[in-house]
Amino acid sequence: MKVALLTSGGDAPGMNSVLVNLIHYMFDSGVQVSLVQDGFKGLLDNKFIDVCNKNEYDNFLTEAGSFIYCARSKEFVTNWPIAIDNLKKNNIDVLVVIGGDGSFKGTQLLSNSIPTLFIPATIDNDVEWSDYSVGFDSCLNEIINQSNKIIKTFKTHKNVVVVEVMGRYCSDLTNAAAKVIQPAIVLNHENKKPINQIVNELKDFYKQNNYGFILMSENLYSKDEIKELLSSIESNLNCAARFDSLGYSQRGANVTEYELSVTNKFAKLVSELVNNHIYNNAVSVNNHEVINISYESIKE
Ligand code: F6P
Repeated sequence: MKVALLTSGGDAPGMNSVLVNLIHYMFDSGVQVSLVQDGFKGLLDNKFIDVCNKNEYDNFLTEAGSFIYCARSKEFVTNWPIAIDNLKKNNIDVLVVIGGDGSFKGTQLLSNSIPTLFIPATIDNDVEWSDYSVGFDSCLNEIINQSNKIIKTFKTHKNVVVVEVMGRYCSDLTNAAAKVIQPAIVLNHENKKPINQIVNELKDFYKQNNYGFILMSENLYSKDEIKELLSSIESNLNCAARFDSLGYSQRGANVTEYELSVTNKFAKLVSELVNNHIYNNAVSVNNHEVINISYESIKE
């Protein structure tokens, strides 16, 4: 039995931990492992590396990113039959994909021709059928750490800052971070506020606290709207207002203890599914429990 592993889409801290744990569980049950570099693109380009020793990649366990690289591949939607040929050429029996929503769709394309398994991994946490996707907790931790640092300097200068966090069109990171940081105002996709309302709400907070911190989801306001918001804050509150996007350090966040624990459980379950010949299933967190669900039930 030979299993191929690949990571796809935007990287998420904890992907390496999934890979290292999968290698260990697979080797311990006598399953051979091949690594596909560059995500789905690597399947098209035939970039397979066989793992010879289960400890070969142990040093990556707690490192963010993916040591087999991630890529987004537009051509895959039409060229996926090439991937099937390459999987066959490399004697792969099962393909395990680690990625987000788009990667799940790519995996489903292959699943009629080769047995597959899927592990949700994206900082955005926008995989609807799992309460948790790998990377979310580490990224959240990074947002909280950075925000607390930014708050200190803005308090000192009695100014206002608008901090933008990632999540694509999902507000889970913003909302979870807001619970801890307690910003003056939270701007998320569920509740896009008009600029005059934001400024009015901020006035009360500013009067009491002498600074302002606004947490904002990305892809919510245009660049022009953000500019207008800052200038309206400056003229109404008589202080400086700045915009700060936390950027890619969120994806490169340090891996948390929770991440290590959930990635280990995902890898263990995937290895058990391989041993029991249960395929075309995804692993997910459901009410704090790690379970597997068939692609069929996800479609419904
Ligand atoms: O999906 C992960 C993510 O980091 C999103 O939060 C963000 O919107 C997007 O990827 C950025 O994508 P790119 O790496 O293409 O700039």
